[in-house]
Amino acid sequence: MSHFLKPPLEHIPRDIASASDYQPYARERLDDGAWAYLNGAAADGLTHAENLAAFRRFRLIPRVLADLKDGCTAVDLFGSHFEHPLLVAPMAFQRLAHPDGEIAPAVAATAMKGGMVVSAQASISLEDIAAAAGGALWFQLYILPDREFTLQLVRRAEQAGYRALVVTVDAPVTGIRNDEQRAGFALPPSVEAVNLRGMRGLPPHVAGPGESAVFASPLLAAAPSWADIAWLISNTRLPVLLKGILHPDDARRAMDAGAAGVIVSNHGGRTLDMLPATLDALPGVVEAVAGHFPVLMDGGIRRGTDVLMALALGARAVLIGRPVIHALAAAGAPGVAHILHMLRAELEAAMALSGCRHIADLTPALLWRGIGQA
Ligand code: FNR
Ligand code: LAC
Repeated sequence: MSHFLKPPLEHIPRDIASASDYQPYARERLDDGAWAYLNGAAADGLTHAENLAAFRRFRLIPRVLADLKDGCTAVDLFGSHFEHPLLVAPMAFQRLAHPDGEIAPAVAATAMKGGMVVSAQASISLEDIAAAAGGALWFQLYILPDREFTLQLVRRAEQAGYRALVVTVDAPVTGIRNDEQRAGFALPPSVEAVNLRGMRGLPPHVAGPGESAVFASPLLAAAPSWADIAWLISNTRLPVLLKGILHPDDARRAMDAGAAGVIVSNHGGRTLDMLPATLDALPGVVEAVAGHFPVLMDGGIRRGTDVLMALALGARAVLIGRPVIHALAAAGAPGVAHILHMLRAELEAAMALSGCRHIADLTPALLWRGIGQA
């Protein structure tokens, strides 16, 4: 039995006016297990909820009568030019959401002149995704226990034309995924991390009674450290970003290790629960790196005003996670293109309505601090 309960929409319904409107259309197309994986979060989901709530604690203070001639949302990052600062976040197993899998968002993101980070756990080969997209893609990977395999993956990404590597550092083990457990989620045999085929496996380990379930795992014995980051950076010509940074000192260490940038992220609340919202962690990281390299962020971006706030607090670009999965599940590539278009249009409206012509005009001065603000 398929995990798809209904085929994707053939036309975009008129009642979809903002990014969140895709969610119910996605939900009704997927069984409980696929939905728990694609939309879920770790443990009680408090980190995920906090990511969303953080944007609601800020207010904007617009400036009127500004010169808005020739405004634009373009950004340059690591040698690539993007027409807007929205990238599709790396998300595993996209064929769970739609039969076209990662091809659909890759085509949509590049058609909309933005970027996408392809997950190491993509369900389509990284070469096929790059060939279909023909645009600027980045590749996300983990430093895997099999270091030789990790390097082979890097070479494949380089050869396929990926422009940057994103090393995810916040998930040496999987988070506590109660939503998935309750729904009895298991990957269907038709969906696989095809790019990880041939990786030397770890010996299976099932913790016995009274034994540590996590620390006894061979995964942790092979977990990467800062030395492995320096090793990876010295072994590729591509810029390397670290994804999953929340602490200012870790951002400084990333800089010292030679990283090209960091992504402030808590993995959409899917790894450790009870973390601060990424929007709240962002200013500390931005201050720590003091403009020496780009800071990106993700988590909870659902509106153009959310993008505006993140950029005002120092992010150079943002990544969009679940909303892209919702649009993909609902309507494939046209859905993803539509959601990126809506978010960009909302960002442009927010910029124009707050008196900002360029991305560089987005500064903390846009955030309301109360009566008497200078
Ligand atoms: C993810 N995320 C993720 N991150 C990563 O580095 N590698 C991965 O393979 C995945 N896989 C993945 C699957 C699914 C279904 C989701 C929803 C998320 C995390 C992702 O890149 C991003 O950090 C968050 O999704 C951002 O938060 P929002 O936009 O979903 O709130
Ligand atoms: C997730 C892993 C794959 O968030 O990163 O599901």
